[in-house]
Amino acid sequence: MESNFSLLEAFKQTQHQVTHHGKRNIQVLQDVLSHLDGQLESDIYGKGTIIEDFQTKIATYLGKEAAVFFPSGTMAQQIALRIWCDMSGSKKVAYHPLCHMEIHEENGLKTLHNIESVLLANKDRLIDLHDVLEMEDDVTALLLELPQREIGGQLPDYTTLESISTLCHQKGIKLHLDGARLFEILPYYQKTAAEVCDLFDSVYVSFYKGIGGIAGAILAGEQTFITQSIVWKRRHGGDLISLYPYILSADHYFEQRVHKMTQYYEGAKELAAYFNHCHGISTRPLVPVSNMFHVHFGFKREQIEPLLIKIYSLTSIGFTGKLNEISNNECSFEVSIGDQYDNISKEALRTVFDMLATEMTLLQSL
Ligand SMILES: Cc1ncc(COP(=O)(O)O)c(C=O)c1O
Repeated sequence: MESNFSLLEAFKQTQHQVTHHGKRNIQVLQDVLSHLDGQLESDIYGKGTIIEDFQTKIATYLGKEAAVFFPSGTMAQQIALRIWCDMSGSKKVAYHPLCHMEIHEENGLKTLHNIESVLLANKDRLIDLHDVLEMEDDVTALLLELPQREIGGQLPDYTTLESISTLCHQKGIKLHLDGARLFEILPYYQKTAAEVCDLFDSVYVSFYKGIGGIAGAILAGEQTFITQSIVWKRRHGGDLISLYPYILSADHYFEQRVHKMTQYYEGAKELAAYFNHCHGISTRPLVPVSNMFHVHFGFKREQIEPLLIKIYSLTSIGFTGKLNEISNNECSFEVSIGDQYDNISKEALRTVFDMLATEMTLLQSL
């Protein structure tokens, strides 16, 4: 193996990958369209059967009065918080320091909407009831991201969630759900989507994560809230003349996969246990609460990369194409279980993990 052969290249060349549903290529859309009548009329600027039916279907699934389809969750969530702030007159919202809005949206909320954020909890743990009790008085809305992706997809227990919801309700604070991975957490909570969403005033869900569509999001809530969000969608240029490639793929893969979340969750628990049996590797959380978790190596990235490349080439099974450097002596990657996990035989899994365990023990002894 050449020394400059990258982890990503090695990963791409493996026959089986433990994560996700498959390659993000245009076949994902082709598979959807091949089932459909070409004469079906496009949606036009938010109107038409394709978009309206899907919005109604997901609103019902989430137990909300109304829903609107957005091209992205980034757009949908900034708009949701803007509406809540305009209603209350206070431009202050609270959320976790590692939520998507705080670290991946280039300060959109502050720059576009002049909304100030109050960071609750700290980077290593979830928001709890105490954080909300201690929160400044003039906070308009609280955003909870379930699961909290950047800390491995952790979740509060359901009673904490209920207590936070009750408290927000009593204090007149709007509670918004970043449910980018809502479908994925339902097997852990043993709740329906509608039961979880009932705790929140507004909800965003994504159709390209566990569902595996191309892109797109739904924002759901009461009719008055959704009516305003449609105006904001237009202001943001999110009201594309045709959104059907996203909507049709969202619907197609929703039907294919929403009932498979338990399978992905069970797969995640099994896979995490395999990793945790290896010296120098631990998962966060130790036992996953959805289809996702993070794998942490107590070694430098430069030590782990060649080891993984070797294992990929010997087994043709890939774990990841990218390792994140956490510190001088720690690196990690994210796992999201999808359809591909069950394509790997248990025997092949045992082989690849025997190999990983041996390599890790060798590394430890150096
Ligand atoms: C937790 C969370 N919230 C929001 C988003 C934003 O979604 P979009 O890419 O549709 O803007 C993401 C995307 O990765 C996410 O992981």
